[in-house]
Amino acid sequence: MLPRPFRVTSTGRDTQDTRTLDLEALDGGPLAFAAGQFTMLQAFGVGEVPISISGDPGRPELLRHTIRDVGSVSHALVGSSPGTVLGVRGPFGTGWEVSAGRGGDVVFVAGGIGLAPLRPAVLEVVRTREDYQRVVLLYGARTPEDILFGDDLRSWADEHHIDVHVTVDSGPHAWRGSVGLVTRLIERAEFDAARTLALICGPEVMMRHSAAALGERGVPRSAVRLSMERNMKCGVGLCGHCQLREYFLCLDGPVLSYDVLEPLMARAEL
Ligand SMILES: Cc1cc2nc3c(=O)[nH]c(=O)nc-3n(C[C@H](O)[C@H](O)[C@H](O)COP(=O)(O)OP(=O)(O)OC[C@H]3O[C@@H](n4cnc5c(N)ncnc54)[C@H](O)[C@@H]3O)c2cc1C
Ligand code: FES
Repeated sequence: MLPRPFRVTSTGRDTQDTRTLDLEALDGGPLAFAAGQFTMLQAFGVGEVPISISGDPGRPELLRHTIRDVGSVSHALVGSSPGTVLGVRGPFGTGWEVSAGRGGDVVFVAGGIGLAPLRPAVLEVVRTREDYQRVVLLYGARTPEDILFGDDLRSWADEHHIDVHVTVDSGPHAWRGSVGLVTRLIERAEFDAARTLALICGPEVMMRHSAAALGERGVPRSAVRLSMERNMKCGVGLCGHCQLREYFLCLDGPVLSYDVLEPLMARAEL
């Protein structure tokens, strides 16, 4: 439960409300993690929140988080400057286990800040790209200004043969790309549904519709994984804040397969 002190080494502005922080441990040690895991990140004197790791699992000496400013703690975190010391507990939770898709197709579906928790899994695929067949990344953002990781998206498409398709909810006249929901991209994307692993991260309503759209294309529910980013406090299965029926999302999740989640997500009161 004790936070480990990490120093912010650099910060980058991704969008108007989102920043990426790079951190290194004051003790100099690495923080090994699996793609999809999160840490409990603490701004001392303000509070602690769960944030997924957006860095490269192959570089555990560098802890990277991409944070959207939505409230008091995230505001303090995105306001950190190089030299600020933050507390880190974890890593916690289950990972994407994208390697289960080796030999077949992989479809990433991201909405908004949901691209950040998926980024480590995309980097894993990029590292061993030849182990996978077709790789598709479908990304929905509010506006073109809200698109995260533009350089990554270009490099994944141009250098690593990933089919990247981006759509926005609304765009200016100059926007020549797709406008509409990410589920429309699922209808049009090319992949072999019977041998596809699909990883989805974004707002819950978007994940529910995306999982259903993948199901309509024939992807088995057991091959669809979602990251459930519900409210969390302890991160280690003690407080019950993250409970979803018999599951503690900090331990059993955040990544769970859709065959487990579908009956739970259909019930509003859960
Ligand atoms: C496993 C996990 C991974 C996460 N990864 C990231 C990440 O990589 N980057 C990132 O920016 N955020 C991530 N989040 C969400 C982040 O934890 C919340 O935005 C943060 O807790 C908000 O705290 P706050 O004090 O800044 O705002 P608060 O004042 O607590 O909340 C501000 C507003 O955000 C809403 N909110 C709070 N928590 C959540 C949540 N979990 N989901 C949706 N809405 C919420 C509140 O209802 C309120 O409307 C993750 C959450 C979980 C559970
Ligand atoms: S956050 Fe405390 S039990 Fe999951």
